[in-house]
Amino acid sequence: MTNVTQMNETDRQYYFMEKASGHVAKLGEELGRRPTCCVTTFGCQMNARDSEKLVGILEKVGYEIIEDENADFVIYNTCTVRDNANQRVYGRLGVLNGYKRKNPHMKIALCGCMMQEPTVIEKIKNSYRFVDLIFGTHNIFKFAELLCSLFENEGMVIDIWKDTDKIVEDLPVERKYSFKSGINIMFGCNNFCSYCIVPYVRGRERSRNPKDIIREIEGLVADGVEIMLLGQNVNSYGKNLEEPITFAQLLQEVERIEGLERIRFMTSHPKDLSDELIEVMKHSKKICRHLHLPLQSGSTKILTAMNRRYTKEQYLELAEKIRKEIPDMAITTDIIVGFPGETKEDVDETIDVIRRVKYDNAFTFIYSKRTGTPAAAMEQVPEELVKEQFDRVLKTVQETAREQVSRYQGQICDVLVEEINENDSSLVTGRMSNNTLVHFPGDASLVGKLVNVSLDECHGFYYMGHMV
Ligand code: SAH
Ligand code: SF4
Ligand code: F3S
Repeated sequence: MTNVTQMNETDRQYYFMEKASGHVAKLGEELGRRPTCCVTTFGCQMNARDSEKLVGILEKVGYEIIEDENADFVIYNTCTVRDNANQRVYGRLGVLNGYKRKNPHMKIALCGCMMQEPTVIEKIKNSYRFVDLIFGTHNIFKFAELLCSLFENEGMVIDIWKDTDKIVEDLPVERKYSFKSGINIMFGCNNFCSYCIVPYVRGRERSRNPKDIIREIEGLVADGVEIMLLGQNVNSYGKNLEEPITFAQLLQEVERIEGLERIRFMTSHPKDLSDELIEVMKHSKKICRHLHLPLQSGSTKILTAMNRRYTKEQYLELAEKIRKEIPDMAITTDIIVGFPGETKEDVDETIDVIRRVKYDNAFTFIYSKRTGTPAAAMEQVPEELVKEQFDRVLKTVQETAREQVSRYQGQICDVLVEEINENDSSLVTGRMSNNTLVHFPGDASLVGKLVNVSLDECHGFYYMGHMV
């Protein structure tokens, strides 16, 4: 038998999955039932995809995956982009502790971006002693191995890596939806926007090999119709590969995959969005009519302090070019209000951009100070001043989005049905190519299908419609 230290990483992890299966089976015998596990995800699509990888391994080693956190094994995949994400984790850990007191078999694991912060680890070691396993974003590929340590050791297991250049392919993954899936095309970020903690917790930018990406998508399309290519800055994909390739070239290769119907991607940094990409999107039949183009601020002064590396004018020019080339493209954005030094006049500039670009949707965030980022050392804006500015931005976004989204009223469009409507089970909910949500009468048999829907009534960010 090959020594486990000599195996390649993927094989090593399969070896540990075998081993973990034995531990889970033994636990099952003790419990007299199959052990249950619940994975709770905070944060962005990257984390959602990472959780699918965790679930893939957990299912393979024999856990029953449930939604209820009163389980034999609970994993929190955390986010630290804004402080409220952290606070939610601490709050819910208290509840988990209550469950654990009643279930002595229960194990609790924490992973994800928050765990890459040394202050967080200290706090958990000191105040949340009931946590059993902590790992980070860089070593998630060795989850099976960590699971074995959890079964084989007493006390808290902690394994955090500062960074990595490793990309481990071909581990199991369990998709949440059969008809759509996120695909990592790159990891990490090199941009260091001055407010943002992501480069510190996700490490340097690394692109996956195009062949691995294509192979993964080909494996998915047997029963799937939509994929979303994921990266913090997809427009700089491929630059550091041995054989460099642009994001636009990758998209063209993905487009050729038979059976695939819709291609989405997240996120585009305005500074790196090329004419080549606009050209490819314009002629593509599969790339969705949706571009998420984070603005952050409309004030060049603030953009400079944020280290975004574009001006208000450059952003507006880019948006105009996109509107001209691809008129039916929905543009959505992220905006931060309350960045250090931001005045009412700066917010006026942001509002000006919102009015001119007319976003179909915008996520508006109150600036959150992240320890270790350059902006944390700048003079902060008092909280009470931020609220008023935030409300002004939100109101403008709502007005322009309503106007923008309503331009399709009365038209018939392709909708990919995603689920039964949460509030009314006689309705289903789906997405247009431009990402707008549509609710219409239908049943579970439609989920995962592309159907034609008449857009009858616009309600701000979504439509009510009927199938034609
Ligand atoms: N890589 C993506 C963004 C990832 S984070 C990009 O550059 O577009 C998602 C969003 O969270 C950002 O676009 C930003 O608007 C917001 N965000 C990041 N750090 C923040 C902070 N410290 N406070 C408030 N919002 C923040
Ligand atoms: Fe954060 Fe900027 Fe990187 Fe986006 S591009 S993840 S906002 S540092
Ligand atoms: Fe949060 Fe990490 Fe994503 S900090 S937004 S989960 S990359």
